[in-house]
This record gives sequence, structure tokens and C-alpha cells, in this order.
Amino acid sequence: MHNKRTVIEMRNITKVFPGVRALDNVSFYVKEMQIHALVGENGAGKSTLAKILAGIQNQDHGDILLDGKIIDIHNSRSAQKLGIGMVFQEISLIPTLSVAQNLLLAHEPDLFNIIVNKNRLLSEANIYLSKVGLKIDPNRKLQDLGIAEQQLVALARALSFQPRILILDETTSSLTSKETNHLFSILKTFKSNGGSVIYISHRLNEIFEIADHITVLKDGLLIDSDSVEKFTIDLLVQKMVGQKIKKSVRRNISINNEVLRINNLSLRGLFNDVNMFLKEGEIVGIAGLVGSGRTEIAEAIFGIRSFDTGNIEVYGKSQRKVNPILSIKNRMGFIPENRHLHGLCLGLSIQKNIIMASLKRLFPKGFIFPKQEKETTQRFIEKFSISSQSKSRPVRFLSGGNQQKVVMAKWLCSESKIFIFDEPTRGIDVKSKSEIHQLINQLTISGAGILLISSELPEIISLCDRVYVMKEGKIVAECCGNDIQERNILNYMLGANNEV
Ligand SMILES: Nc1ncnc2c1ncn2[C@@H]1O[C@H](COP(=O)(O)OP(=O)(O)OP(=O)(O)O)[C@@H](O)[C@H]1O
Ligand SMILES: [Mg+2]
Repeated sequence: MHNKRTVIEMRNITKVFPGVRALDNVSFYVKEMQIHALVGENGAGKSTLAKILAGIQNQDHGDILLDGKIIDIHNSRSAQKLGIGMVFQEISLIPTLSVAQNLLLAHEPDLFNIIVNKNRLLSEANIYLSKVGLKIDPNRKLQDLGIAEQQLVALARALSFQPRILILDETTSSLTSKETNHLFSILKTFKSNGGSVIYISHRLNEIFEIADHITVLKDGLLIDSDSVEKFTIDLLVQKMVGQKIKKSVRRNISINNEVLRINNLSLRGLFNDVNMFLKEGEIVGIAGLVGSGRTEIAEAIFGIRSFDTGNIEVYGKSQRKVNPILSIKNRMGFIPENRHLHGLCLGLSIQKNIIMASLKRLFPKGFIFPKQEKETTQRFIEKFSISSQSKSRPVRFLSGGNQQKVVMAKWLCSESKIFIFDEPTRGIDVKSKSEIHQLINQLTISGAGILLISSELPEIISLCDRVYVMKEGKIVAECCGNDIQERNILNYMLGANNEV
């Protein structure tokens, strides 16, 4: 076998943010035709490293070499020119523009024509969309798409610049297995055409499926970098977190009164005649492909999205109006898929974000007691090991996974009784994921009912008592007991005519 050429080399890269050494003298290389996985706990420094390569951030020390020559990546444009493309962990496109406009933004040579010729804009957009297997109308505004679809648009855009090096930061974190498989086939083609991929993911089984090489970071330090055959999942976890992970066990509890019922809920074009119920102590899953209406239903139940017909009953009482304020009053909590849009106030501190949905309960008179605020939030910060140097810094500066943990903490702190979790472990590392699974189980033991949307079927299967399967806006199956199996659920998700 001939020896593959090194394409990118990072030499002694250090990056310090106020109070934290995000990268500490990190060196490794990426070869041609290599899918190089970058793994590590939340806050380990993966995104920072990727952003340095993509020209979004500058290293404080160290060199980057491309084809053996030291290069200077000043901004994202120069990264693009050097053939480096990236799909960011947090969506970086423009929400108010259409899919087509986002795709072709800054493709300057063509821009003039495109402005003149709208048909051309749409047909070019369609070409890029079909490459990533996305069947959507390019005229739709980006903000109207789900996170997974937005990520695929971002991937289509990155590919449209025909990069040599493609960096994917948690791109599969809200994709189901079908879309992930499609992504993997794109990556394999990209690789066989000589490309290199830097692949960041907390889904470790995916890493073993797709990667040739693994680099492990921990607290900004390089722990190991070796070919995938040198690792097993256990060994990898050991290197990432330095300890064994507890497996979540099925709890045995009694399921009691009904807390939530959804009758014939419909919203044109998004979901149709949906019926569901949820009891105290129950964890009920909603499975389905990206775009099947899972998130839209959850948003309608909490009152972020309206619906055309049907009704929602909370504790047996039909709700005349549904909006987030009433839902919080009804002790309902919602952990949204899109934490930047609905979950967090990015400019506020970790503490303020955690306490936000509990202010009325904790401080009914309207005066906030800082000591109580600190004590209450500290419990959650420790429970979730939310890593940050200072609790009073804006959550904007937290790593993606740590931001997700703050959203979880906010709703757990609110002591709600009905929870809707939409991809609760999206972008969360293995250790915190098992903590969150245990917490979800504990919540039901204390009487809460939980609706759980997850793109990871193993998560649904290990946690849920019942599972609704959605396809194209409709519930196509309800699985209980022994029927809750991966193959079963996949069959319903895809419909009888598809191969699993
Ligand atoms: N712009 C910034 N300002 C201040 N601190 C930052 C900034 N960006 C990242 N950090 C800090 O640098 C550290 C590394 O963050 P990074 O986003 O690289 O982690 P990560 O490995 O991508 O984690 P995750 O798995 O949660 O996405 C974290 O402690 C984070 O809080
Ligand atoms: Mg990250």
C-alpha cells in the first residue's frame, strides 16, 4: 500500500480564552483520503480547533501547514480559497433568507446572473440539495426548517465550494440513521476522490463506522492520535473521560394518571390528525425521520407553534389557549431542539439562564435573593458538570454541549411535571449523556411524565415505555413492550416500501 500524503498539519497549536486554555500545544496531522475523527468531552476544544482551521478564530501559538507549507488563515474566505470547508456545530447561515439564497451566497462569479435569473438560482440550489439528499422547496426560509435540515443545507453549501478538506462539527447530532447513512455515502465518495474529512461527533459508534483515524482531546490537551483499529469503544471512552460510564437501567415504576392528551391535532402541511396521551411516570418516545413532524408537534403542545384544529388536555382539562407562559404555569417544561432560538438567553449568565423558568416559584414576591439563586443553580452546575470558569459569564462562550446542559438544567430546576424533550442529548458527550438518562429516569420516579423526541433510536429504545412513530406528519404506529425494537420502529418510520 502506498503511503498517503499529509495534507494538513497542526503544530503546537495553543489557544487561550479568558480563564480557559481551550487548546494546549496540540499537534496532529490529517492525510489525504482520510476521515479523521476528533473526539472529546464537552469543552475539550474540538470546535475551537476546527474554527481555527476554518479561519473563524486565530491560534495564539503554533503553525498550520497545508501540503507541507506554513499557511496563514486570516478569515473564512481565505480558508475557503485554501480548500477548507466547514459545517458548524451551531447553524451559521442566515435564517431570514431562503434556502436557495443561503446556498449561493458569496458564490460571487455567478452572483450577477443569479440576481437576474431567479430560475437559475433555483435550479442550481436544487442540484446542491439533491447532492445531500434533501427534498425541500429552495424558496423556503431557512428559519422554517428543522435543525437537521438546516445542517444539511449547510453541508450542501460547504460542498458547493468543492473543498479538499471538509470539517463536520456535530453534523449528524440531529440526524436519524437514514440521513446519517446518506451523509456517510457522501463522505465516502468525497474521500475516494482524494478529499480529507475532519469529523467531530459524540456518537461514538458512528466514529467506528466511518473514521480511519481518531484524535482524542481532553481539556485542550491531545491525549492520543492513532488509526481506528487501535481503539475499541471502551478504550476510547476511557481516554475521553478517564473513567467507566454507567449504563442506564430500565426502571420499574407504576404508571398512573393521565397528564396530557392530544386530540386530533392538525396543522396544514406539517402534521395531521395526531392523537397521543401521556401518563404520570411514563416516558413516551416520538420516533420519525427528519421532517416527519416530531418537532412541530412538540412545539404545538408547548404553545410555540399554533395549530389549525384539534385540542390539548392538560390534567384532563381542555386548554382553550396554548402558549409558553400558560404551559409553564401548567408545570410543563420544554427542552427544544434549537437551543439558540428557544432555549437560552445567550447574553445572560449560566446562573440566570438556569433560574429563568423558576423565578415565580422560587421568588414569588419578585425579589431575587442572590444567595438562594447561587445555591439552587450550583446544584445543577455540579450535577451536569457544566464546565465554565465563571458562572457569571454569558452562556454564549460555553461549548455547544455545555449550552445544551444549561437548557436541561433550566427545566429541571423548574420542577415541572410534564416534560417535552426534543433531542435532549444532542451534542452531549457520553458521560453527561448517561447522567441525563439517569435524570430522565429519576424524573419519572418522582411522578413526571415525559415526551421524548430523539433521532437516536437506541436512546428511545433504552428509555421509553411506549413509542409513537411518525411519518409525513401522521402517527403511523404505537409500539409498546416487546415491540419497542429498532427494526420494528425503523420499518414504520420508513414505510413498508422502503428497505431498512
Ligand atoms: N469565544 C469564546 N470565548 C471564551 N471561551 C470560549 C470561546 N469559545 C470556546 N470557549 C471555551 O473553550 C473551551 C473549548 O470549547 P470548544 O467549543 O472548543 O469545546 P468542544 O470540544 O467543541 O465541546 P462540545 O463537545 O461541547 O462542542 C470551553 O471551555 C469553552 O467554554
Ligand atoms: Mg463543539
